[in-house]
This record gives sequence, structure tokens and C-alpha cells, in this order.
Amino acid sequence: MYKIYCLNNISPEGLALLTDNYEVTENIDEADAILVRSADMHEMEVPANLKAVARAGAGVNNIPLDKFAEAGIAVFNTPGANANAVKELVLAGMLLASRDIIGGVAWVRDNADDENVGKAAEKAKKQFAGGEILGKTLGVIGLGAIGKLVAQSAEALGMKVIGYDPAMDEITVHEQISPTVEFADLPKVLKESDFITIHVPALPATKGMINADAIAQMKDGVVFLNFSRDVLVDDAAMAEALESGKVAAYVTDFANPAVVKMERAIVIPHLGASTAEAEDNCAKMAVEEVMAYLERGEKIHC
Ligand code: MLT
Repeated sequence: MYKIYCLNNISPEGLALLTDNYEVTENIDEADAILVRSADMHEMEVPANLKAVARAGAGVNNIPLDKFAEAGIAVFNTPGANANAVKELVLAGMLLASRDIIGGVAWVRDNADDENVGKAAEKAKKQFAGGEILGKTLGVIGLGAIGKLVAQSAEALGMKVIGYDPAMDEITVHEQISPTVEFADLPKVLKESDFITIHVPALPATKGMINADAIAQMKDGVVFLNFSRDVLVDDAAMAEALESGKVAAYVTDFANPAVVKMERAIVIPHLGASTAEAEDNCAKMAVEEVMAYLERGEKIHC
């Protein structure tokens, strides 16, 4: 029976599927496969029996791909398995940036001991007035599994969507995402959007793509959302844009020191995929990929 080592805790459904089929070992040296979520594997010695690594998540930045490829170890990820969870947090991020929910809730908590808090809140509420997303333009950079769901949901909420993806063409976007999403180049997305959300992997070509030059092309008062990877955004440039008001709000799933204390930044501790459902979907897909590979040599999402 194959032995599997879990480098991170695995969700109940994923664990059940795993233990129904294999032995879960506590000794990494005897592992035939490793399941990993966020643990960094770059410094890890490669176990002698290791045949496969499966990441319960989309990004593979925590995995030394070259080192494992050299050792003949297959690496899998679970694209799309947590896309709905990320999409829902992106929508929440847009709404948090549009309505001052965070300021309003903090005010109520600060005044919770006042027995007339209800009346005081009625007076205070003017300072927390916001705007609506209906009719606004959302630019989506990257129309993969997550970008697609974000684009479709934003249209359902009455937003106009402009999408950019160098790996797609207009016909595919209209057939597979929505006939009303406008397929555009990056400069147009940057220039015409009220909200911009980025959904691309961290690659040498995408690192720092949202830099001072890209930000300068955006509308004044744009809201920018990053639920993909921290390295995509030059956070020093973003901090300057927040300071000047060029960017009205930066909603990010990454606690970068350059922006964490900034008033216009809404910083979330990488919770995009942190739902029970997404954990189960990713873990089950990762286990299925390992099973397909160990049993039949099949490579799914490799
Ligand atoms: C992913 O790579 O799937 C997401 O960033 C979620 C995560 O790793 O927590």
C-alpha cells in the first residue's frame, strides 16, 4: 500500500478519501507522495521513495518545481477547486471598498458602551456613506478559473466588465465566459476601469506588472484588488498611489509591510481560499490526482 505524508493538515473529506485508499505516514522519508497546502518545500530534502507532490491549491510558488522535475517527481495542483471561494472574497472586497462597512462597524464597537449608541450612530452615519458598484466598470486581468467567475458574477451584479488575458481571444471569452464581457488589451483595462482585479499566476513576466507605470494609466480614484499573489503588485508604488489618492482603495489578500498600515488599504491575511468547501474541494482533487498517478500513471493538472 502506498504511503502518503501530509505536510499540512488536510480537510476531513480529503483525509477520508486518503485513508480509505492509502496509509497516512508520519515518516516523510518513506512517503510515496506528499500532500501540501501552504508549507514551503524549497529547503526540503527529497525523500528517496517520493513519486508525487500534490498541492491543495492553485499556486505552486511554495514548491521547487525544477528540483522535483530533476528528481522525476510529478507535481500536481488543483486549479479551479477553490475558485468560487476566491471569487466570493473578491466580491466582498469590492463591496468593502465601496461601502465603509469597516469604518462603520469599528465606530459601533468603539461606542458600544454608550447607552444611547443607537441615536449616536444615526448622527455618525454620514461619515460612512459610500457608493454603489451597479453600473461601474470592472477590469479583470486574467480570465482563468477565478477571473471567469469574478467576471460573470460582476455582470450579474450589474457591472460592466472589461477583461484582458494574453492567453485568450475574443471568441473564446464570449463563448466560455460571457458574450457581454468586453475583451480588451491591458492599457484599455487599466484606463477605463473603476475597479480592477488581477487573477494571474506569479511568473517572471507577471512579477511587478502593477507598477508605477501601470498605476499611472489607471483612472483617478480607482479601486484595485489583488487576491492572486503579492509579487504581482509593486507595493511601494501602490503605497504612493494610496497616499496621493490616485488609488482610492487597495484591497489585498497579502499583508505587505508597505501597505498594511495605510488608511486606504484593506489588507486580508490570505483568506481567499479559506472556506470549508474550498479546503474540501482542493484536498479531494489533490488526493484524486495522487491516486490517478500512483495507480495508473495518469497526470492530471501536472
Ligand atoms: C491558491 O494558490 O490556491 C490560493 O492562493 C489559496 C491558498 O493557497 O491559500
